[in-house]
Amino acid sequence: MLAIIGGSGLTTLSNLDVSHREVVRTPFGEPSGALVFGQICGHAAVFLPRHGYGHTIAPHAVNYRANIWALQQAGVSGIISVASVGSIRPDLDPGDLIVPDQILDYTWGRKATFFDGPGTPVRHVDFTMPYDAALSQRIVAAAKNLDIPVHVGGVYAATQGPRLETAAEINRYQRDGADVVGMTGMPEAVLAREMEIPYAAINLVANHAAGRGSSSAGIHFESLEQVLHEAMGRVRSIIEETVGCNDACSVAEGTV
Ligand code: HPA
Repeated sequence: MLAIIGGSGLTTLSNLDVSHREVVRTPFGEPSGALVFGQICGHAAVFLPRHGYGHTIAPHAVNYRANIWALQQAGVSGIISVASVGSIRPDLDPGDLIVPDQILDYTWGRKATFFDGPGTPVRHVDFTMPYDAALSQRIVAAAKNLDIPVHVGGVYAATQGPRLETAAEINRYQRDGADVVGMTGMPEAVLAREMEIPYAAINLVANHAAGRGSSSAGIHFESLEQVLHEAMGRVRSIIEETVGCNDACSVAEGTV
């Protein structure tokens, strides 16, 4: 069963045929909301909106540990993270989709490990390749089957938020090698790694990053909503294809 964590613009998964909801309690507190279980064209899936159902939880306030713990308890075989980003690389425009393959982490003060607390043995996980290659490839193949363009690979810079960046910060992230910037990719990705859950992302470009392109004089929030809404249709199709909706040979249950 695949999990989908939805970001801004994806607070419900309309193609999920809901069977039940589950409020999960974790040793780390409350997840962002109840887990929504169901099927996407016969394939079991579970959905969790990262910012809560009313979009009330800011990126720095998301309980990433509770979210990942709850999904691990649900027995998910992988997580697809959907998150909007600002584009730094010049060939990335609002509405574009990216499946990133690297992360730069500029967040601070977030609870970023499960291996914490008195008596917990110190553990170091390998994070050389932060996204699961096989799951990322499935997403890319799904997009290709549907003729939906996606940028394959890219460096995601995770910033603290909730404020947007300064133009100078974006220049710095570009010098560091970042292609896109978002506020929620970390510690979500590393917590999934600690739980040994394959984790991949679909990033959708909502805006040019601060100081770039159409955001050279500031970021226009009005146009942002519109872009997210339009692009989410493509994201939903890719998710359907990734779970295997057009795969006549797959067995309905337990294959994703
Ligand atoms: N910066 C950080 N996070 C974002 C942006 C941005 O420009 N756009 C969407 N999420």
